Amino acid sequence: MSQEGIVRSGGELFADRGPDGLITRGFLRGAGRSSAAVGAAPVIGIANTWSELNPCNGGLRELAEQVKRGVIAAGGLPLEFPTISLAEAFVRPSSMYLRNLLAMDTEEMIVGSPIDGVVLLGGCDKTIPAQLMGALSAGKPALALAAGPRPLSRWRGEEMAVEQLWPLIDERRAGRLSDDDWSALEACLSCGVGTCNVMGTATTMAVVAEVLGMALPGTALLPASSAARAAAAEETGRAIVERARAGLVPADVVTESALHNAFRAICAVGGSTNAVLHLTAMAGRLGLSLPAERLQNLSDTTPLVADVKPSGTRFLHDFQSDGAVPALMGALAGLADLDQLSGADRPWRDDVVARPDTARCLRSPDDPAGPASSLTMLRGSLAPSGALLKRSAASKHLLAHRGPAVVFDGVEDLHRRIDDPTLGIGESSVLVLRGVGPVGGPGMPEVGHLPIPTALLNRGVTDMVRVSDARMSGTATGTVVLHVAPESAVGGPLGVVRDGDLIELDVAANRIDLLVDARELHSRTTTFTAKAAARGYERLYLAHVGQADTGCDFDFLRGVPQ
Ligand code: FES
Ligand code: MG
Repeated sequence: MSQEGIVRSGGELFADRGPDGLITRGFLRGAGRSSAAVGAAPVIGIANTWSELNPCNGGLRELAEQVKRGVIAAGGLPLEFPTISLAEAFVRPSSMYLRNLLAMDTEEMIVGSPIDGVVLLGGCDKTIPAQLMGALSAGKPALALAAGPRPLSRWRGEEMAVEQLWPLIDERRAGRLSDDDWSALEACLSCGVGTCNVMGTATTMAVVAEVLGMALPGTALLPASSAARAAAAEETGRAIVERARAGLVPADVVTESALHNAFRAICAVGGSTNAVLHLTAMAGRLGLSLPAERLQNLSDTTPLVADVKPSGTRFLHDFQSDGAVPALMGALAGLADLDQLSGADRPWRDDVVARPDTARCLRSPDDPAGPASSLTMLRGSLAPSGALLKRSAASKHLLAHRGPAVVFDGVEDLHRRIDDPTLGIGESSVLVLRGVGPVGGPGMPEVGHLPIPTALLNRGVTDMVRVSDARMSGTATGTVVLHVAPESAVGGPLGVVRDGDLIELDVAANRIDLLVDARELHSRTTTFTAKAAARGYERLYLAHVGQADTGCDFDFLRGVPQ
């Protein structure tokens, strides 16, 4: 229906007085829009990941309407479109397996549609990062708006955030939670739409988007169903019109320095380990890299300033009352580069706010909530291309630890044998799970937080060193070494670990080592073979997915589009 092959901006196409413009306007007129409406510019797409298969994003339909209000008020034409949506709770084998597909969906829709700018509506863990990756590659002006955290639940009379689920699951396994308790938990686990209500992956990524200048300042933590978030949606609609008029594309905003600021923010809030993968993938989309040494340096010089769950003790609403991300950026003023642009298209220094004297969650760098190095990049004979530990969520007494390995080959093996008494698992054992990396998972399922064997749980053991090529939920805690690269399924040393081998974790030295002599190791052959992919997306995925140190992006999506 158009002169195919000619790529034009939305405004240009809609203003065209020839057949293409006529057809473009005519179809929208057919959908009930007025002549004035289809003559408005710029044309703003609203990429919406609302889906009944994604309750965390359940508020995005309403937010899309608010965004439209802002776009129209600023003189633009809003056009909402759906993309796929990825819910942590539902997508198997892993939402990460489909993250790159959502990124491609988003990119192609932005590039192929007659729009001049886009608002990205995401929320649940993979949606915001995938949308940002797609928008970075698409190269049109973009702003994200996250779904916002859902309300807190109440459990046994107390406020409960989602991360308290994990110890309750352990309680159930240990037989200390009755059937009635289990049913009560189901009813109160998630009270309302919105993303997980701690600094898990979804909230961390909302913070990242804001720090990067890809979301309006002050919007990351606003509660999902609040009037403030609805108003922020309208403001985002106005702001994207301005950004599109200014022609400010993501690469103008997401500079190397902005990526460093975002990484510092992840460290300063004790954010999700998953965010490191996503940030690395985003950098890759712009032809930039974030080497482990540089990240470690940033981590080592960034104190944990937010005392927020799951790394800390406070709820997100405490962080919000303390001024949220603009106050965080203020607290990091001596460390972050405040000349980078905020989502309001001006230097961040114009958007920082002072931390109130009454602040309870947000601390100053001089009196932080925890030491620097909340994220530790590990390397060693067990992880030649790196691994990651969330130090702020780990047990101090395990940060220097040597113990015998107990190895599980995949999740089924883990569940079948974790409570097998003949394994002789002691509290100093190191639990190893392999075959669950980007290729082996596939998609690095969030299974790196291996359960503590029931017998040890009953003896009061709550943490052990655990090592895998998987990820873990941003809401989980423990001394958990993740993202081991290369993974076992592509021949990484994790594949040749045997029960009883000594593994040494030395966080102070950034090391994770398999204490087996090199000749012996060389003589071992891995039992893993990469899964053969028959067809479709899986074939594309397995042929092109990168390891954790590249952010698990597809090789052909990295770099700046020519
Ligand atoms: Fe969707 Fe946590 S499961 S945000
Ligand atoms: Mg998650």
